[in-house]
Amino acid sequence: AIKILLVMIIGYLLGSLNTSIVVGRIYGTDIRKHGSGNAGMTNTLRTLGKTAAILVIFGDILKGVLSYIIGNLIITSIPDSITLFNISGIGGMVGGIAAIAGHNWPLYFGFKGGKGILTSFSVVMMMDWKLGLILLGVFVIVVAITRYVSLGSILACAAFPIGAAIKGNSPVFIIFAAILSILAISRHNGNIKRLLSGTESKIGEKKKA
Ligand code: G3P
Repeated sequence: AIKILLVMIIGYLLGSLNTSIVVGRIYGTDIRKHGSGNAGMTNTLRTLGKTAAILVIFGDILKGVLSYIIGNLIITSIPDSITLFNISGIGGMVGGIAAIAGHNWPLYFGFKGGKGILTSFSVVMMMDWKLGLILLGVFVIVVAITRYVSLGSILACAAFPIGAAIKGNSPVFIIFAAILSILAISRHNGNIKRLLSGTESKIGEKKKA
């Protein structure tokens, strides 16, 4: 149990390094005061442009991957499905979820963070990269058709536990997939309201709060 707690703390502390807020500060602004107000890649792209967004992509993916690997290195005793590194997956999944929570409620930035989509994606890739690529495909297709990044995120997240069940992944895997999915979708309440009312901003378009 102490190891699980340790993995959660490390993941949370790493995840709390919300890259969009850090990059925003480098650009001399608080990303949360612009665009959708969200501290994430989409809003960084919207507000600060491509270079800033690329930095955010690297940072948010890196912290998810690191948290996953550290989790798997610390918790090796509980064997689960085969993962990318062929070591037990539970520690990685715990670390990954903790990193997503850190991103969404960052310790260093007043607990006001983002929606954890990129970090979730990195964790999904570590859990099952083939399924991850399929979900990325879902995301890309939805965004290409609708121009709504949020809708792509929501549908790809919803497809994760369903895809895992269809693929026949372990029950533990499916439970973690469901937790990750619910965590991510629940952060999109505002987006869902805007989507329903037709006021959600489309990618490549200028703001709309
Ligand atoms: O990854 C977050 C995305 O799904 C929506 O971001 O800034 O449009 O609320 P945003």
